[in-house]
Amino acid sequence: MRIIKTKNYEELSRKAADLISAQILMKPNCVLGLATGGTPVGTYRCLIEKYKRGDLDFSAVTSINLDEYRGIERENPQSYWYFMHENLFNHVNISPERVNVPDGRNLNAQEECARYDRVIENHGGIDLQLLGIGLDGHIGFNEPGPAFVLETHCVDLEESTIEANKRFFESRDQVPRQAYTMGIRAIMQAKKVVMIVNGKNKAEIVKKSFFGPVLPEVPASILQLHPDFILIGDEEAFSEIED
Ligand code: GLP
Repeated sequence: MRIIKTKNYEELSRKAADLISAQILMKPNCVLGLATGGTPVGTYRCLIEKYKRGDLDFSAVTSINLDEYRGIERENPQSYWYFMHENLFNHVNISPERVNVPDGRNLNAQEECARYDRVIENHGGIDLQLLGIGLDGHIGFNEPGPAFVLETHCVDLEESTIEANKRFFESRDQVPRQAYTMGIRAIMQAKKVVMIVNGKNKAEIVKKSFFGPVLPEVPASILQLHPDFILIGDEEAFSEIED
């Protein structure tokens, strides 16, 4: 595990974007595992700037997103499909056929999860996986549980996740209760994993996940075992950790 401590969110976003740019420059047809949430918005903004300056070419890049709410239309502004297009894809030259997000419109969970695992497998896995972290230690939507779930699966969202994500919806009632998420295997098999985390409210879960035991009750803790895991956090996110 490599730790990069940044002064603030801007620096964190630049560092993550630099790592993703390096990946695209080294392998123009790479597979990026991408994440949603508030944290990656700055990273995507930096990537868009690099693209607009002519420093990045997404034409051969494939993206495979981590997760999507179950039972949501793509056009719904709260869908992760919509989020990714708003915050990144609509602003760069990625090919629409190379964009992959679990299909929230497909209510047949078994079918959709199996399809998504085939998509990941057919691309030979992920080169660089970008992650955020939930307050309960979830990655993608891999929620705490009795065991790590390896395959893409349908999850019942934890109350704390529904509570945290309600800020994106008009009311708490509108937050979907289920989601499809990539499993732990595809994340752990990614060649490189980059997690970005900022703010005081993440300090406790950062300590628990990366400076405590590896447990399925703290899903992100498994990343301690990844051979190329980079944790980028701002000072507040690392405030519970002693130097
Ligand atoms: C959601 C996403 C996660 C994300 C998490 C944290 O639940 N499924 O991929 O990491 O939220 O989001 P934020 O960055 O807004 O704290």
